[in-house]
Amino acid sequence: MDGFPISTRAGRIKQPEIRRIFNMALAMKDVIHLEIGEPDFPTPPHVVRAAAEAAECGWTKYAPSMGDPALRAAVAEKARRQNSIEADPTTEVIITHGAMGALAALMLTLVDDGDEVLIPDPGWINYTGHAQLAGATPVYVRIREEDGFGLDPDAVRAAMTPRTKAVIVNNPSNPTGGVTSRENLVEIARMCADAGAYLVSDEVYESILFEGEHFSPASLPEVRDWVITVNSFSKTYSMTGWRVGYVIARPHVIRAMTRVQEHMVASVTTVSQRAALAALTGPQDCVSTMVFEYKRRRDLVVSGFNRIPGFSCRAPAATFYAFPSAKGIGMTSSDLAMRLLEKTGVALVPGSAFGAAGEGYLRVSFANSEANIREALARIERAVAEIAGSSR
Ligand SMILES: Cc1ncc(COP(=O)(O)O)c(C=O)c1O
Repeated sequence: MDGFPISTRAGRIKQPEIRRIFNMALAMKDVIHLEIGEPDFPTPPHVVRAAAEAAECGWTKYAPSMGDPALRAAVAEKARRQNSIEADPTTEVIITHGAMGALAALMLTLVDDGDEVLIPDPGWINYTGHAQLAGATPVYVRIREEDGFGLDPDAVRAAMTPRTKAVIVNNPSNPTGGVTSRENLVEIARMCADAGAYLVSDEVYESILFEGEHFSPASLPEVRDWVITVNSFSKTYSMTGWRVGYVIARPHVIRAMTRVQEHMVASVTTVSQRAALAALTGPQDCVSTMVFEYKRRRDLVVSGFNRIPGFSCRAPAATFYAFPSAKGIGMTSSDLAMRLLEKTGVALVPGSAFGAAGEGYLRVSFANSEANIREALARIERAVAEIAGSSR
């Protein structure tokens, strides 16, 4: 603490290990970055143009607290068309500072000190930080490779207590690329509604899907009061730096969240919202082009890791992450990731960074070029052969 006091709240949260690896990797030369969770494609040109034109036309002032009405209407229309979610754009949609801002504000809106929030393990690191910042206790629900890295309703049921205020479901999942089946999502949503707990459905990877169909639990009318949908433009449209996301929920949640957001950021950057509007209403072939490319790279990563002794890698059904098991190498995932970074200059995230159940795995982002992925695989293969040789 360096002798200076900080809040217990801030003291409780840790720096995500991804940032630590990323910062180390940045300080090194000739590193192949497979640790980063952001698309490597440029933002589509028509989106950039829309923002430039908006800035020139004076879209440079504070936006309404809930977001640009035209963008809210476009979000509601997209949700109806693509997700079968019926939402009133004037009362049931709020534009947020990315999905990150959405989830942080949502936790502050939903939970009280001592409430419990169910979080997938392995799961996106920031869920824990958001719950803790809001005073809640994170309770982890284990996700297993045997279940295709989908969330198991029985595991959710077993983790629920009378203090459970929210259940976070991340479908498709970061870090595993797993997809939870429609049947299981329906069961989990009903369980939440029966228990009076909110199901927070983080669907930021919904469009980066290689197999099957995406299902949004908020499309079920009977549980709609308890389902909160979180989404973002970051991954679908390669717009991580624009910081625009949204939440769809019942008006009482949106009203309370708007008050919270007003005290945090006032409103979301006006030109970014115009860019997001262009992304939603403009041509969508940019999305399918990126997804096509991710799928080719996924196949390369999966076959590459399956060729390296000690690794086994199932094909992720979605996202731009593979989550190979490195259990055959005989090192902790953290030691292995460090060793690979230091010896080969390939940056990966140890599975343990995403929770105890991630131990033994590595998260490999294939948001990188095919040439870099091939080079990274070759370097890892050589390093693993050396590790095996030295332990003989
Ligand atoms: C599962 C998940 N949810 C939310 C986010 C946050 O995305 P945004 O850029 O919209 O804040 C990320 C970003 O990595 C993510 O992986």
